Amino acid sequence: MRPFHFLHDELYCEDVALAELAERVGTPLYVYSARSIRDRCRAFKSALEGYDHHLTYAVKANANLEVLRVIAAEQLGADVASKGEAFLALSAGFAPESISFSGVGKRADEILFALKNNIRRFYVESEQEWDALSEIARQLGVRARVLLRLNLDIDAGGHDYISTGKKHDKFGLAPDRALALAVRGEHSPPIDFRGLHVHIGSQITSVEPFVEAAEKLSEIVEHFRRRSIPVHDLDIGGGFGVVYEGFLQHPLLDEPKTKSVPEIATILERILPIVRATGCKIALQPGRAIVAEAGALVSKVLYRKETDAKTFLIVDGGMNDLLRPSLYRAYHQIVPLKIARRALETVDVVGPCCESGDFFALDRRLPRLDRGDALAVLCAGAYGFVLSSNYNAQLRPAEVLVDGAKAACVRERDRLEELL
Ligand code: LLP
Repeated sequence: MRPFHFLHDELYCEDVALAELAERVGTPLYVYSARSIRDRCRAFKSALEGYDHHLTYAVKANANLEVLRVIAAEQLGADVASKGEAFLALSAGFAPESISFSGVGKRADEILFALKNNIRRFYVESEQEWDALSEIARQLGVRARVLLRLNLDIDAGGHDYISTGKKHDKFGLAPDRALALAVRGEHSPPIDFRGLHVHIGSQITSVEPFVEAAEKLSEIVEHFRRRSIPVHDLDIGGGFGVVYEGFLQHPLLDEPKTKSVPEIATILERILPIVRATGCKIALQPGRAIVAEAGALVSKVLYRKETDAKTFLIVDGGMNDLLRPSLYRAYHQIVPLKIARRALETVDVVGPCCESGDFFALDRRLPRLDRGDALAVLCAGAYGFVLSSNYNAQLRPAEVLVDGAKAACVRERDRLEELL
């Protein structure tokens, strides 16, 4: 069952009615379903069953401590992209051995923090980063295990800002340069070269780019081995797409047909045999696919404003709470918390920030909503709160974790004093 569903025309997250929750906690408000997060973790684990694997959750997608605890309890590892994320992952109970450190720009203090806390698996993206890591590990007298991130010039589709695998993107190393580094690594005792990594993009909605990446990787493994460089691990990264459009269907809504994406099992059915043939252990770093559909941003209509050109619903959440529509023109389904047989109309759902780009939806067909009505912006569990800000000195929203009939506030709304 979807984490959000209508019961007697009221929107629920698991067994919790959202209208009541919104009254109690106030809006805007992020709500997450623990059950959905667990289900998604299990879907990955079951698709990987029987394979030697390393499954890490990309903390950048949602770094709420209690959300991380749910994922740690499912026995996933964590992939972190900063000292802050490493600190959160450790605080949530991820074992240091299960944590990997990614990112194109790791500072020396971040590398030091990770090594001192027994995080030893690094994804390296440049020669200078290799040298920096090698030097810091040598000073500490420890060994860092390294996977080199490759840039394989693969176009995974999607928005330019979240493409990461094309030649002109800042990420990864060309295979020949990675090979030169690995050869050099044979004489660099603080570094134990373990394998290769790609992360070709995010919200990838077809299987083919993953297959292309796995095939290219397996050829490169052969090439490394011919040069007597052993490769043990292949990390395919994250990027698994989720359903945004048509997520929740209801006869009184005018939501477009569900735009489905391949199941994780379908993707893995294609790439696991390719990886298995190399004899390497497979690693994955999903972020969005674990948490996106578990979350919604609940907001209230402050004002209806009808102009000659448009009808605006001005709501109390804005781009400072959920940036994806403004930044990527991302589509998020919007549903009223209480659904009634009301005329459909075309509206812009906009926030209070002083920017025309501050919107959740443009020209969207919704049942008529009035002042005080509440709505939910769906599939907001990934890259939602983590991208929020205090722009216009707005207070960042509260976050609530629902588990069955329980709803726990897992992060309070910012307080005015915190703006000082
Ligand atoms: N691994 C690495 C090295 C990454 O850079 C990312 C995401 C992931 C894993 C997880 O990717 P996922 O499975 O979540 O697609 N803010 C954008 C998405 C940026 C993704 C950045 N890297 C958005 O809201 O669509």
